Amino acid sequence: MAPGVLAGSAVSDTTLPSNVPETQQTPANQESKQLFSLAGTTTVVTGGGRGLGITLAKAIVEAGGHAACLDVLPEPSKEEWAGLEKLAKQSGLTVSYYRCDITKEEELSKVFQDVDEKAQQLNAPLKGTVACAGIQQKVPALEYPAEDFERMLRVNVTGSFLTAKHAARVMVKHRTGGSIVLIASMSGNIANRGLTCTAYNSSKAAVQQVCRSVAQEWGQYGIRVNTLSPGYIRTAMTDALLQAEPEVEKTWMAGALLGRLGAPEDFKAPIIFLLGPGSSWMTGADLRVDGGHCASA
Ligand SMILES: NC(=O)c1ccc[n+]([C@@H]2O[C@H](COP(=O)([O-])OP(=O)(O)OC[C@H]3O[C@@H](n4cnc5c(N)ncnc54)[C@H](O)[C@@H]3O)[C@@H](O)[C@H]2O)c1
Repeated sequence: MAPGVLAGSAVSDTTLPSNVPETQQTPANQESKQLFSLAGTTTVVTGGGRGLGITLAKAIVEAGGHAACLDVLPEPSKEEWAGLEKLAKQSGLTVSYYRCDITKEEELSKVFQDVDEKAQQLNAPLKGTVACAGIQQKVPALEYPAEDFERMLRVNVTGSFLTAKHAARVMVKHRTGGSIVLIASMSGNIANRGLTCTAYNSSKAAVQQVCRSVAQEWGQYGIRVNTLSPGYIRTAMTDALLQAEPEVEKTWMAGALLGRLGAPEDFKAPIIFLLGPGSSWMTGADLRVDGGHCASA
């Protein structure tokens, strides 16, 4: 066994002998509504204190799963968190919040250990993780300071990798398999007109490559890893950009084939698809949801 590989975990329980027909092997062989159910599972959402992350946590609870949100913010967005707690209570589910910086591995590892313990008590193993925490910065490339560039890579790339790593360690330890979704961006594939965001764009391309690389390593454990790449969504992140330069919105709208920017809710169905059994044969892939932006020049 290679050094560092967790003991007793070479093959996931989800892997069956090759003479069993694929229709009997796939967890997707069930009624369509079950393919979008997260019942009996726990999912971690980083960046779950606001914006896209907290909306994805709501989608997870609506799909019957427990959610553990973590974020560097001291507290989650008040109104949205109150709504999420209420929804969880009504559904007999749990939501928890951890203040944690995803670039600090020791902190992150402790959060995953705690979530794992609670998930075991609930009999709802940690089978999903969404790495949604990220930062953005607009600086012309001719002036981009090295420290800022490195910080962007540290949060968006190293932080997403560490999140996936600690999620996968729990899934390998319990031999449950699972689904890890890294939130990338259409900016991982294109350079956005009117936005001077070299570090951000580079970081999101790297997130897509982290996904392919770990998917290649962890398929043997029944762990799927995919990226979800949004186009422009109206959140605190983009509000800051649009307030500084309102004319940028015109450029964005020029590529909006459906006549509007995205809303966090536009990602509820895609995340449940990627986390749930419906996407059982999908790994190492990117799902771009961008209102058509990348389809036209
Ligand atoms: N808004 C968009 O148009 C858009 C488009 C494509 C991709 N994305 C991606 O979606 C994700 C969510 O973005 P959003 O628009 O909701 O932005 P947001 O700023 O509202 O949310 C990002 C969250 O990540 C948290 N965070 C930042 N650094 C962290 C760290 N080191 N540790 C833990 N938490 C940290 C922030 O506190 C914040 O709550 C990001 O990865 C972003 O790059 C957003």
